[in-house]
This record gives sequence, structure tokens and C-alpha cells, in this order.
Amino acid sequence: MNKNTIYILFISIIISLASCTNSGRGYEYMPNMYRSPSLDTYGQNTIYSDSSNARKPVEGTIPRGKLLTFNYEGSLEGYLLAGDNAINPYDSNSENIEDGKKLYAMFCTHCHGDLGDGKGSINHPVYSAVPAYNDNNMARRTGSTMSELKAGHIFHAITYGVNAMGPHASQLSEEERWKIVLYVQTLQQTPEK
Ligand code: HEC
Repeated sequence: MNKNTIYILFISIIISLASCTNSGRGYEYMPNMYRSPSLDTYGQNTIYSDSSNARKPVEGTIPRGKLLTFNYEGSLEGYLLAGDNAINPYDSNSENIEDGKKLYAMFCTHCHGDLGDGKGSINHPVYSAVPAYNDNNMARRTGSTMSELKAGHIFHAITYGVNAMGPHASQLSEEERWKIVLYVQTLQQTPEK
């Protein structure tokens, strides 16, 4: 063995032994790459002085999927709660009812009929059983009849739909829906033929 070979052998042994003992995570060349200096959401920070540190949404912010005037789930429970508690923010005056009537003619008449008697122009079998708004006999999900449905029930039905009737939330604003409710309420009161 010549001197060089011994030298290389010696270095190799030292290196291999050194790598065996190095069981830690090693030297951190750029610690910020490992330990982010950024602030965690809702974590403590030095920028805002109030104790919660979480920023509040801007006033008037509406959470996704929520409405401003109606916050009931699309479930039967939400439907029943809406019937008991929801309040129409729009007055039942002739102007609002007239607006509702126009919207009703565009979005509801073809199934529910001009008079709300369930005799719209669509005669597909799926829509053969559209109930009349002034019906006093057939029990609905509430246990009461069509003529007894409250504003919240009607708004809920327009928003989420019911069976063959699809939801109209994407076509009508909250204001438009409430105005239609006012008009449907006038149809509920027409005497049964
Ligand atoms: C595609 C046809 C169709 C359209 C459009 C439609 N409906 Fe209906 N609607 C129905 C049918 C069918 C039912 C009965 C569903 C059932 O009880 O199975 C119904 C039921 C209802 C009910 C009773 C809901 C309940 O809680 O019992 C209301 C109120 C109502 N519709 C209002 C409206 C209004 C207001 C519009 C317009 C924005 C409208 N519908 C548009 C087909 C339609």
C-alpha cells in the first residue's frame, strides 16, 4: 500500500464515521426556510393590539350561502322554522304586490297558472299535480293546507324548491322572492271555485 492509498482510506473512514454519528436534522443553512416568520391565521401577532387578534369581516358581509333576510336551511326543519319565524321585510302595498305579480307571471305562471289554481300551460305529467294556492283540503308538509302556508313557507319553497318544483334562488333576488310571496298571498285568499 502506498502512502496515497493509506491517506484516501483514512479520509474515507473518517467521513463514513462522521455521517454515522450525525443523526440530528443537520445544519440549517437558511432557518427561515424551515421556520416560517409569517403569521398564522387567528394566531397571536404584534400588529393588532386587541386580544382576539382575529380580523372581523367588513360590516354587512354576508357569509357564503347565506341570505340577508332569510336564514333557514333547505331541510324540512328549516322550512317549518321559516314558516313560524320568517318576516317579509317588504310591505304588502299595491306597488310591491304589482311587482310580485309581474315576476310571478314570468317565473311561476306556466306551472301554477295565472290565477294560482295549478293550471299552468305546462302539461307534462310530472307537473300534473300542481296544487292551487287557495286549496283548503290537501295537507302540505306543514300539516296545514296551501291556503294556510305562511310567508316563510312560500319563500322557502321558492328558494329551495319542493319535489318537482325546482329552486329559484339563482333566478330571483331576495327582494323579488319576497314580492312574489306578497302576490302569492293574495292568490291564497281568492275564494275556492
Ligand atoms: C316547473 C313547474 C313549477 C314552477 C316554475 C314553479 N312551481 Fe311551485 N310548485 C310546483 C309543483 C309541482 C308543486 C307541488 C310540489 C309537491 O308538493 O310535490 C309546487 C308547489 C309550490 C308551493 C307549495 C310549497 C309547499 O310548501 O307546500 C308554492 C308556495 C309554490 N309552488 C310557489 C311557486 C312560486 C312562487 C313559483 C315562482 C317563483 C313557483 N312555485 C314556480 C311546480 C312549479
